[in-house]
Amino acid sequence: MVALAYPITVVGVGPGSEEYLLPVAREAVLAAEVLVGGRNALALFDSLGKEQRLIGRDLDGILEYIDDARQAKRLAVLLSGDPGFYSLLPRLRQRFGAGGISVVPGISSLQLACARLGIKWDDLSITSVHGRGLDGLADIAGAERAAVLTEPKYPPAAVCRYLLEQGSWFRQAWVLTDLGLPGEAIAYGSLEVIAGQQGVPFERGNSILILLGDEPEPGQLPVGKTPSGTVGNTIEGAVSASEDLGAYLGVVTPGLPDKLFVQGTAAMSQEEARALTLCKARLKRGMVVYEIGAGTGSWTVEAARLVAPGTVWAVEKNPAAAALVRANLLKFGIPNVRLVEGDAPDACRGWPPADCLLIGGSGGRLREILGLAGGRLRPGGRVVITAVTPDTFSGAWQVLQEGPWEDQDTVMMSLARVASRGNAQIWSGENPVFILSARLSGGICEIEGSPDGA
Ligand SMILES: C[S@@+](CC[C@H](N)C(=O)[O-])C[C@H]1O[C@@H](n2cnc3c(N)ncnc32)[C@H](O)[C@@H]1O
Repeated sequence: MVALAYPITVVGVGPGSEEYLLPVAREAVLAAEVLVGGRNALALFDSLGKEQRLIGRDLDGILEYIDDARQAKRLAVLLSGDPGFYSLLPRLRQRFGAGGISVVPGISSLQLACARLGIKWDDLSITSVHGRGLDGLADIAGAERAAVLTEPKYPPAAVCRYLLEQGSWFRQAWVLTDLGLPGEAIAYGSLEVIAGQQGVPFERGNSILILLGDEPEPGQLPVGKTPSGTVGNTIEGAVSASEDLGAYLGVVTPGLPDKLFVQGTAAMSQEEARALTLCKARLKRGMVVYEIGAGTGSWTVEAARLVAPGTVWAVEKNPAAAALVRANLLKFGIPNVRLVEGDAPDACRGWPPADCLLIGGSGGRLREILGLAGGRLRPGGRVVITAVTPDTFSGAWQVLQEGPWEDQDTVMMSLARVASRGNAQIWSGENPVFILSARLSGGICEIEGSPDGA
């Protein structure tokens, strides 16, 4: 009697991080005895201690192994993203038949790329240069909008160079690399600019390239229109900004006018205080920034503009405030922010190492926040804390005098504006703001109270 082989479960594991792994995929993995997959996919499940088999270059060899092993064991073949999208699925189906496999879907890298940019993908012309070389680009000839999956041999810069040689009509390109992974990077430029760039993300194979014509950047406001009406309508108490964003799109200095931001009841620092706070952070392009207590999102928007293609990881515990942050990200067309709704520091678990920590609100948990979030700061990383009450100031002052901080700097900002009183103009004082900053000495720190020892 011939023993019946187990069906093979083909599992889409998403872009490669826990947060984008579907619960149904996790269940399928837990039910399997042997996991077969690429290095990153297998690494996701190392802690389960299951038997693993790496998919290397020898595909025929691995298909032989699967055929053999499935006679006695339950196998899960782990594929990145969704199995139906440029993956090994056709080879598995050809070899084992439709009845020999069952497929669990996953979130594909293209879905995540388009979500990051806030654009639709139903009209994208899609291709991949995997195993087909640059000839694969013939598939997108004549398309208005396209997406290309790149590989180490043909990274985004090489694809753009080739397209330019072919006289491509695409004008703008977004490069999205290592999405959902700790090194995630997003870059934007003309094809000429991307073609001439070196290093990550331009020469990184694990990237998606989104190619567009002359239309405005994804999320960018067509000059002359603001969506604040639409955004404001969805948020209770939000005020629609009246000022047109168009005039500020190319502005690089921080301290954008307060009136540009969609505002509600959540606190928002005034533009002058925001500008000085961001200057004290000494931000650079490409940095990873944590923002604790995002409030209305005005720091979030400005920090994201300054560090792009770096990323701002923002946390906000008040749902109404988080909605304002989202509204402002949408209004300013900011793609490089990861907003987490929750309580810091717990909500910051799993975030990648950071270069800077901005603390606008700590809910009395400053020491813990510096423990967990600060515990992920890279050597030389800066922390900037603002305080408007004496209690917050003295707590922050105390904490920064202890532990691994150096180069402490504290200023009190006192601001007065000209205001009209009757026929006269007078100086009208604002509440003072304390801005405390410091630099982390040494390496990634072990601060007392760091719950995960990071
Ligand atoms: C063989 S294809 C697999 C696609 C996968 N089935 C999916 O649905 O995303 C591998 C390519 O997908 C893209 N890719 C996969 N994971 C990615 C990620 N985390 N960030 C950016 N691109 C990714 C890259 O273009 C990579 O070279």
